[in-house]
Amino acid sequence: MKEIKLGVIGLGGRGRHVAMYIRNAAKSLALASVRVTAVCDLKPKEECIKYAAADGYDLDISAAEFFATADELLEKADIDACIVATRCNLHTDLAVKVLERNIPLFLEKPVSTTIDDLLRLKAAGDAHDPGVVVSFPLRYTPHVKVAKKIIERGDIGDVAFANGWTRVAYGGVYYHDWYRDEGITGGLFLQKSTHDFDYINYLVGKKPAEICAVKSKMVMKGDRPAGLRCDACPDNPTCPEGIVQMRRVYGYAPDNSMCCYAVDTGNEDSGSAILRYEDGSHLSYSQAFFLRNLRSCGRGALICGSEGSVSFDFNSDTIVFARTYEPVVEEIKVSGAGAHFGGDERLTENFVKMVLGLEKSIAPLEEGLMSALICLKARQSAETRLFKKIAFEK
Ligand SMILES: NC(=O)c1ccc[n+]([C@@H]2O[C@H](COP(=O)([O-])OP(=O)(O)OC[C@H]3O[C@@H](n4cnc5c(N)ncnc54)[C@H](O)[C@@H]3O)[C@@H](O)[C@H]2O)c1
Repeated sequence: MKEIKLGVIGLGGRGRHVAMYIRNAAKSLALASVRVTAVCDLKPKEECIKYAAADGYDLDISAAEFFATADELLEKADIDACIVATRCNLHTDLAVKVLERNIPLFLEKPVSTTIDDLLRLKAAGDAHDPGVVVSFPLRYTPHVKVAKKIIERGDIGDVAFANGWTRVAYGGVYYHDWYRDEGITGGLFLQKSTHDFDYINYLVGKKPAEICAVKSKMVMKGDRPAGLRCDACPDNPTCPEGIVQMRRVYGYAPDNSMCCYAVDTGNEDSGSAILRYEDGSHLSYSQAFFLRNLRSCGRGALICGSEGSVSFDFNSDTIVFARTYEPVVEEIKVSGAGAHFGGDERLTENFVKMVLGLEKSIAPLEEGLMSALICLKARQSAETRLFKKIAFEK
C-alpha cells in the first residue's frame, strides 16, 4: 500500500483534527497509509506530541521531524502533501510557499484575510496547481447534497431568491479566545460566512455580482480593561460569560479566557449581507454570535425557485421540499452524523484521492478565493455603507 508523508504547519485544534481525519480516510478507503512526518508549530515538540494524542484524538506524531519554521519544513522535509492550519492571517503566506513548491495542499479557511493577500494567493494559484482542497466541509454534507440534487433536477424551477442563516451557541469563542482579535481573523464574515457563502453559491449555481452588508456590535462589548482575563476578574463566578458559568453550562471554556466585555474585545456580534447574482436573483444572509440558548440558534438555508423551495437546517435531519402551485411537501431524512455534519469525512477522502491522483479537488482554491472575496467585500461594504462589486480588485 502507498504511503503519504504528511506535513502539518499549525498543529492546533483544527490541524490535529484534519490530520487525523486524513489518516482515517486513507485507512477506510484502503488506498494508502498516512503518516505525519513533519510538523511546524509554535508549541514545543513534546507538547505537540502530547496534544496530538489528547482529548479523544489518537494521532501519533512521535516519529515526526519537528521544524522551527515553515520555511525550514518546506525546504528540508520530504513530504507528499501538507496541511496549513495556523491562525487565519498566516494562511496566505504559508499557502503561497507550499504552492511554489508544488506540494498538494489542504488549506484552512479563510484563505486570506486582506484583499492584498487574496490577490497574491490568486496569482500563486494561477502559476502553480499542485492540487488544493480548501477546508469547506459544509458543501459536502448530506443536507447540501440532497438539496443540490433537488435543484439540479429542476424541481424548484429557476432559483430566484435564497436566504441563509448562522446563529451558533458556541459564539463565545469569538470573544474569549484568540479569535477575539479581528486583526487575526479579519472579522466574522471571513471567519464564519465564508463557509455559508461557499455552500449557498454552490447550491444556487450563479455568479455573484455585488454585495452590501451591515455589521453590529451590541452585546459583546463593554468598558472592562483591555487584557482582562476571566480568572483574574472578581465577577467571574456570576458573569454569564465568565469561565465558571461556561464550564458549568457548556462543560468547556478556553484556559486563557479573556473578558468579552472589555475595551479590546474585537469582532462584530452580528452581521447581515445581501448578495446580488449576475442574473438579478439574490441571497440574503444573517449571522449572530451572542445567542446561547439552542432554541434561538441554527445554521441553514432556504432556496426558492419559480416552482418550489428547498430548505434545511444542519441541526435537523430533515430537508423540506415544497412545490409552489401544488399542495405537495416532501420531507427527506438525512443523517448529518460526524464532524461538520459529515462534511469533514468527504473532504478528507477527496484530499487523499487528490494526492494519489485519483480525483480532482472538490473544494479547489478558486472556490476558497471567491468565498473570501465575497466576505472581504461584505466587510468593505459594512465599513463604507456602499454596495461593492464582486471582483478581484481592491
Ligand atoms: N474549516 C473549519 O470548519 C474550521 C474549524 C475550526 C477552525 N478553522 C480554522 O483553522 C485555523 C486554526 O484554528 P484553531 O482553532 O485550530 O486554532 P489553534 O490556535 O488551536 O491552532 C493554530 C495553531 O497554529 C500554530 N501557529 C501559530 N503561528 C504559527 C506559525 N507561524 N507557524 C506554525 N504554526 C503556527 C499555533 O501554535 C497553534 O497550534 C483558523 O484559521 C480557523 O479559522 C477552520
